[in-house]
Amino acid sequence: MHEYLANPGRYADMTYRRCGRSGLQLPAVSLGLWHNFGGIDRFENSRAMLRRAFDLGVTHFDLANNYGPPPGSAEETLGRVMKLDLAPYRDELVISTKAGYDMWPGPYGNFGSRKYLLSSLDQSLKRMGLDYVDIFYSHRPDPGTPMEETMSALEQAVHSGKALYAGISNYNVEQTRAAVGALNVPCLIHQMKYSMFRRASEDGLLDALRTEGIGAIAFSPLAQGLLSDRYLGGIPSDSRAARGGFLKREDIGEQQLRQVRALNEIAGERGQTLAQMALAWVLRHEGMTSVLIGASRVEQVEQCVAATANLRFSDEELGKMEAILK
Ligand SMILES: NC(=O)c1ccc[n+]([C@@H]2O[C@H](COP(=O)([O-])OP(=O)(O)OC[C@H]3O[C@@H](n4cnc5c(N)ncnc54)[C@H](OP(=O)(O)O)[C@@H]3O)[C@@H](O)[C@H]2O)c1
Repeated sequence: MHEYLANPGRYADMTYRRCGRSGLQLPAVSLGLWHNFGGIDRFENSRAMLRRAFDLGVTHFDLANNYGPPPGSAEETLGRVMKLDLAPYRDELVISTKAGYDMWPGPYGNFGSRKYLLSSLDQSLKRMGLDYVDIFYSHRPDPGTPMEETMSALEQAVHSGKALYAGISNYNVEQTRAAVGALNVPCLIHQMKYSMFRRASEDGLLDALRTEGIGAIAFSPLAQGLLSDRYLGGIPSDSRAARGGFLKREDIGEQQLRQVRALNEIAGERGQTLAQMALAWVLRHEGMTSVLIGASRVEQVEQCVAATANLRFSDEELGKMEAILK
């Protein structure tokens, strides 16, 4: 029934990093299904990216209840690909999902109540056709719900076997400390926005995670595509910025493009594309478990995975890059 046979050499080149002080290792490059895996997207393209990623040793796919559009449809896409291709490899995969942002109308379809998190997880499992996810995240902190309640929902997800590990996302340092204090199972991982253009996590969060033995996975490491050659010649009609959403045309300013051009030159000197250098730069942190990329085509997945071939930076390179980013 399953025509797809995974590449027998899929573990040859990928680097795996231990996720904090846990037993779990993640690929240095993971694939997220936020964009380009929804009901509005071409299913065969989404399927091809997932298959190619797995063939290259990308064992971790990241989702959330609301990814699409429409919300929920990225989980359905993953469910279809599991059924068609990847189900025989379920034990080789780490699949995560989250709840925290708007998902259904009314007071129980967002933020961090026990009511929302646990019913959302049940819905996610149904859409993906899975018995369990590997990681279940609180997608964002909820100022209106006691931390103990949100964490008890993650705990129950783990104790019920519907999730193997618990994670948090978008929590600042203080919220992270409070979450870890309130959570009675280990906090496996923190998912944060981090790239050359978004460096807030350097102000204490990355250090705190290392001290606590919590893994770190950086989302939007390419700043949604800005940190690549995608926009060097204008805004391509098939790009995320052209489609308008979380990355807008007006986000791509002249000053940023100047930085991108200068960074692109350094990448060239390193024998990498800018996207590859941007990923390597995030992975330079000890304690950074994985970069969580997005992609709109198979070639981007391939190029991003190949970033792991050169993760080293000289002090001179880092100095030049800092000067550009100032
Ligand atoms: N926890 C959270 O709150 C949160 C928030 C955001 C994202 N995330 C997670 O992080 C994942 C990644 O986020 P993201 O999609 O913003 O990441 P990203 O890697 O910064 O951006 C991905 C986009 O960059 C472009 N791209 C990728 N590889 C490229 C290459 N080699 N050369 C040129 N352009 C390339 C593509 O843009 P085009 O589409 O224009 O081709 C692609 O869609 C999401 O899927 C999701 O799982 C989590």
